[in-house]
Amino acid sequence: MKVAVVYESRTGNTAAVAEMIGAAVQELGHEVGVWNSRKVNLDYLTDADMVFLGTWTDGIIIGGHRPGDSGKLLDIPGIWGKPTAGFVTYALHAGNVIEKVGDVVKLLGGDWLGGRTFRRQRKADGLANFVVAAVDAAEERLGLAHS
Ligand SMILES: Cc1cc2nc3c(=O)[nH]c(=O)nc-3n(C[C@H](O)[C@H](O)[C@H](O)COP(=O)(O)O)c2cc1C
Repeated sequence: MKVAVVYESRTGNTAAVAEMIGAAVQELGHEVGVWNSRKVNLDYLTDADMVFLGTWTDGIIIGGHRPGDSGKLLDIPGIWGKPTAGFVTYALHAGNVIEKVGDVVKLLGGDWLGGRTFRRQRKADGLANFVVAAVDAAEERLGLAHS
C-alpha cells in the first residue's frame, strides 16, 4: 500500500510519533510519506491507499479535550474515502479526544478506522501494535486482506 502520515504539532511530540509511525509502516513493507498538514504532498495524498492523521491534545487537562489545531487539519483538501487511522499525543489526560479526531476524519471524507493516544513521555508504548492493526484494518477495508 501507499500510506500518507499527516500531522499537526507545535512542540514536536506529534511530529516524532508521526515519524515513528512512518518508520513502522515502512518496516511492514509499505511505501510511506510523512508530512505536516500544511506541507502535505497533494499528489501523494491523492494517490495514497490509507492515511494516518494525528495531532496533539488541547484542553484544560481535566476536561474540554479536543484535537489541537483541528482547523489546520481541516484545511487539507480531503481524504476522499480512504481508510484513516488517528493518533494523538497528550501530557496527562486525553479524554475522548480520539473520537473527536474521528469527527475531523469524517468531515474530511475519510473512512474512520479508529485511533490511539500516545503519552508524550512514552511515545513508543503500543505504537508497533497500533500500526500493524491499523494497516490490517485498512487492507481489509480495501479488500487486500491476506491470510
Ligand atoms: C494549549 C494547550 C493545551 C493542552 N491541553 C492538554 C490537555 O488537556 N491534556 C493533556 O494531556 N495535554 C494537554 N496539552 C499537552 C499537549 O497535548 C502535549 O504536550 C502534546 O504532546 C503536544 O504535542 P506537540 O509537541 O506535537 O505540539 C496541552 C498543550 C497545550 C499547548
